[in-house]
Amino acid sequence: MSSLPKTQRSVQINAHGGLDVIKVVTDAPVPIPEDNQVLVKNAFAGLNFIDTYARTGLYLAPSFPFTLGREAEGKIAAVGKSIQDFKVGDKVAYLGVGALAEYTALDPLHVAHVPSAIPEGVAAAGILQGLTALSFARESYEIKKGDYVLIHAAAGGFGLWLVQVAKALGAHIIATASSDAKLAIAQEHGAEFLINYSTQDWIAEVKKITKDAGGGVAAVFDGVGKDTFDGDLEAVRRKGTVVSLGNASGAVPPFAISRLGSKNIKLVRPQLFGYIAEREEFETYAKEVFDWIIEGKVK
Ligand SMILES: NC(=O)c1ccc[n+]([C@@H]2O[C@H](COP(=O)([O-])OP(=O)(O)OC[C@H]3O[C@@H](n4cnc5c(N)ncnc54)[C@H](OP(=O)(O)O)[C@@H]3O)[C@@H](O)[C@H]2O)c1
Repeated sequence: MSSLPKTQRSVQINAHGGLDVIKVVTDAPVPIPEDNQVLVKNAFAGLNFIDTYARTGLYLAPSFPFTLGREAEGKIAAVGKSIQDFKVGDKVAYLGVGALAEYTALDPLHVAHVPSAIPEGVAAAGILQGLTALSFARESYEIKKGDYVLIHAAAGGFGLWLVQVAKALGAHIIATASSDAKLAIAQEHGAEFLINYSTQDWIAEVKKITKDAGGGVAAVFDGVGKDTFDGDLEAVRRKGTVVSLGNASGAVPPFAISRLGSKNIKLVRPQLFGYIAEREEFETYAKEVFDWIIEGKVK
């Protein structure tokens, strides 16, 4: 521990706001892990839409300065007295607050050993979105063979993971994105039907595609939020499921719950952490994410 530096570079905000609130500081203290924490020397960090929510204040920071970043990969640099499952030098990837820094101290609940077969940096790029895609495709709505599933922003980080998971589960994937170039990427990863929601009437297109399958999708996975939520209620079929999982265009405003009744729609608003709150749950899904990467089932 004595060989560790006292200060480090980190990406911080001191207030919520636009891009100008983001500062790279060089004199942030290197945290000292508590007895039940590990200290990770980060080598790679992933960027996620949640970093935008943390900057703008849609998700409020508990205090300032607040270090951004929610996932990273690196090596254990120090362990607290009660830690048994990790030792200095172990290669790990994790979910945790403050990943955009050289060192991050955290509870090991969401820290996983990275198998040696995974190339450098890949675990950091995939763990949060991979865990989300796999757990949501099983637990928010269990995707089944032959289902018509609508995935918004399908060429994004989470979207591309979910396209590949849904494809492997045998679903017909209807992908939306804001450009034809993005749709081509979704197609390369397994999307069967492509809709440019900047230029096309996406609700009408979904109804056309699903006209022989109940006139709507079995499930919609929506990380766009405000701009698409109303349309989701139209695009889903009777007894279908709307998984409202994010707010890229803004938070979904309050609405009358009775609107679900006309088609007996199920509405779910999941958070990844609700599916990996127990260590065993996290380990199961993390192993699956790593297996998918190693087996080349996900690009
Ligand atoms: N609930 C959870 O636990 C959980 C966990 C992980 C991720 N998520 C959610 O999953 C979604 C995707 O996250 P991600 O990290 O993978 O990000 P991302 O997909 O790389 O980015 C979000 C995408 O949303 C689309 N979008 C539509 N309207 C937008 C707007 N006004 N501003 C910006 N983007 C807009 C864009 O795609 P187009 O250009 O194609 O429109 C953009 O690429 C987010 O909503 C995130 O909050 C939720």
